[in-house]
Amino acid sequence: MLDINNALEDKLLGFIGAGNMAEAMIRGIIRNQVVQPDQIIASDISVERKEHLSSAFDIRIATDNHSLIDQSSVIFLAVKPQAVPAVLKDISANTGAEKLLISIAAGVPVKTLAAGLPKGPRIVRTMPNTPATVMEGAMAIASDSPARPEDLETVETLFRPIGRTVRIEEKLIDAVTGLSGSGPAYVFMILEALADGGVKMGLPRDVAETLAAQTLMGSAKLFLETRTNPGQLKCMVTSPGGTTISGIHELEKGGLRASLMNAVEAATIRSIELGKA
Ligand SMILES: NC(=O)c1ccc[n+]([C@@H]2O[C@H](COP(=O)([O-])OP(=O)(O)OC[C@H]3O[C@@H](n4cnc5c(N)ncnc54)[C@H](OP(=O)(O)O)[C@@H]3O)[C@@H](O)[C@H]2O)c1
Repeated sequence: MLDINNALEDKLLGFIGAGNMAEAMIRGIIRNQVVQPDQIIASDISVERKEHLSSAFDIRIATDNHSLIDQSSVIFLAVKPQAVPAVLKDISANTGAEKLLISIAAGVPVKTLAAGLPKGPRIVRTMPNTPATVMEGAMAIASDSPARPEDLETVETLFRPIGRTVRIEEKLIDAVTGLSGSGPAYVFMILEALADGGVKMGLPRDVAETLAAQTLMGSAKLFLETRTNPGQLKCMVTSPGGTTISGIHELEKGGLRASLMNAVEAATIRSIELGKA
């Protein structure tokens, strides 16, 4: 395994944007001791966010993005896509080839980042998701990013303790955004709806939520550990004339599968639109 401290040398791991996703990643990275808290520095236009992360994790805070870049060798770009042009303007003068920029911004292509940073930092485009907070993130790394092979390993080393990582071509990152980047919101809706069903049938709310969450997590784990086709796993719990097939019939009438496929498609298209804006 690559020693992340070699990649950071005597510099810091920087986060430009100290919002939800940066917090999720910092929590996972610190919990797993990938680096020490004093090796992380964050900048944000919101003083409250900087103070929150500093007091929650004992990390350093930078006065501004320019100063963060000076002190960091590996930098996460963790602002909303709409804020990316302003950040690129802030950091372009001091972001050269000695810096590794890891973008998590939805929809923003590498070519846009490279055009805004003419001094040529190494760039890796990625797409994590918020379950990284509890070390169960789903992360993708664009394998054709303009960076060295060891940079991709550095990113994997940072991501490994906080979830599962796949390498894919950049042209597929918008689809990842539509599936796993936005996916936690879809799953929370499913969890809430399953629990509501339990409450409708008389279960106390906390019992229904626990059962719904454990069923989602356990089913996902069963798939990941066996790699059995999901359709086959479904058939294994669907006995002829039984309860499950009655429930499945209702899901089919409600168009569950088409709705989820449409959701991934719509979010992917939105990611592409954001990248063009
Ligand atoms: N949240 C997710 O589930 C998720 C999943 C995958 C990827 N992402 C990507 O991760 C990125 C961050 O998302 P997020 O949900 O963490 O957003 P967020 O909570 O809004 O955090 C972004 C932070 O950046 C700050 N900011 C805005 N302009 C800035 C600037 N010029 N310099 C420094 N900081 C600035 C924002 O401050 P203000 O609020 O004051 O503007 C905010 O505190 C996005 O590009 C998103 O596409 C998010």
